[in-house]
Amino acid sequence: MAILVTGGAGFIGSHTVVELQNAGYEVVVVDNLSNSSEKSLKRVEEITGKPVKFYKADILDKPALEEIFQKESIDSCIHFAGLKAVGESVQKPWEYYHNNITGTLLLLDVMRKHNVKNIVFSSSATVYGSPEVVPVTEECPKGEITNPYGQTKAMLEQVLTDIYKADNEWNVVLLRYFNPIGAHKSGKIGENPNGIPNNLMPYITQVAVGKLEKLGVFGDDYDTPDGTGVRDYIHVVDLAKGHVKAIEKVKENPGLKIYNLGTGIGYSVLDIVKNFEEATGITIPYEIKPRRAGDIATNYADASLAKRELGWTAENGIKEMCQDAWRWQSQNPNGFEE
Ligand code: NAD
Ligand code: UD1
Repeated sequence: MAILVTGGAGFIGSHTVVELQNAGYEVVVVDNLSNSSEKSLKRVEEITGKPVKFYKADILDKPALEEIFQKESIDSCIHFAGLKAVGESVQKPWEYYHNNITGTLLLLDVMRKHNVKNIVFSSSATVYGSPEVVPVTEECPKGEITNPYGQTKAMLEQVLTDIYKADNEWNVVLLRYFNPIGAHKSGKIGENPNGIPNNLMPYITQVAVGKLEKLGVFGDDYDTPDGTGVRDYIHVVDLAKGHVKAIEKVKENPGLKIYNLGTGIGYSVLDIVKNFEEATGITIPYEIKPRRAGDIATNYADASLAKRELGWTAENGIKEMCQDAWRWQSQNPNGFEE
């Protein structure tokens, strides 16, 4: 039996395929490569020494999904496929709702038709909005979400919850990721954003490699120790291992489960700059800029539920996150392009 990994050629997906294969699982990847390269899967094969079964297909293409479910013996799905750029989602809400929501509804329909009722879904800490108390537990009510991307995550959590309520044969694990950064230790796979990065770590590594001049720090007047935004950065390999644990949990028929995947430690933007400089010996020039619309001051996880119920904890610290992000970027200055 195989695990279908939608969006498996992407940043988190490719790292998860490595960990699944290393744990002995059979994996089938479906990805339309809209934000990734098939080369990431070639690199995965180099890392694990195992072939990756890949279908270049769009989850909006229902006949293509049907065909995959007919050909392969799939018993569960890890669903990463989706558009994820916050700013772009404000400009292109229809595209985001259609791709993320319609795409997931079609996937779920094909899954139930084939009696595949196990799903692990990529959600986000963004569903908490601006949390009233940190660290955030899973019980913290969902907050006000300021962009269509975040809305799709909150809506899909609801869709999956309602589907489980209507049919208890489903096992639904909602994983709320905090801020994934870093890369595989081999330096072969990592984050490969199109154009100018929106997120902090890829921006820093592109400054370090000389592609960008200096980092803009979005606001130094937040109510945080140094005034810059505080987040819970988590190594992508730890996050990937969390998915293996979630798949193990699914086998126990747990019903509906929600887990935060974070480290429980908050670092400010300037902490990250300092740690990156210490880990790599490279100076990152920066300037303070105005706050970015929609940003919050502080968000970090209480990840104790994942520890108790999944037996999962993040193992890598901020030093490894910085070193591994830099190894990937310096060895692949143009991502997967030669
Ligand atoms: P990514 O863009 O690298 O990976 C997503 C993959 O999905 C890409 O390979 C893309 O080509 C594919 N895809 C998109 N639409 C598709 C479609 N219609 N059909 C088939 N494939 C499609 O992003 P990522 O960082 O690896 O994120 C994976 C998932 O985790 C996403 O759902 C994202 O929203 C979620 N998430 C990411 C973060 C983060 O910081 N990276 C945080 C929280 C949640
Ligand atoms: C953002 C998204 C979130 C999404 C996550 C992963 C917003 C408001 N939130 O989270 O929904 O799930 O990415 O894709 O966009 N920063 C700078 N300079 C930069 C980039 C970032 O100072 O060039 C700061 C930000 O203000 C923030 C921190 O660095 O304080 C982290 O930013 P980022 O990596 O974009 O992640 P989030 O904003 O936490």
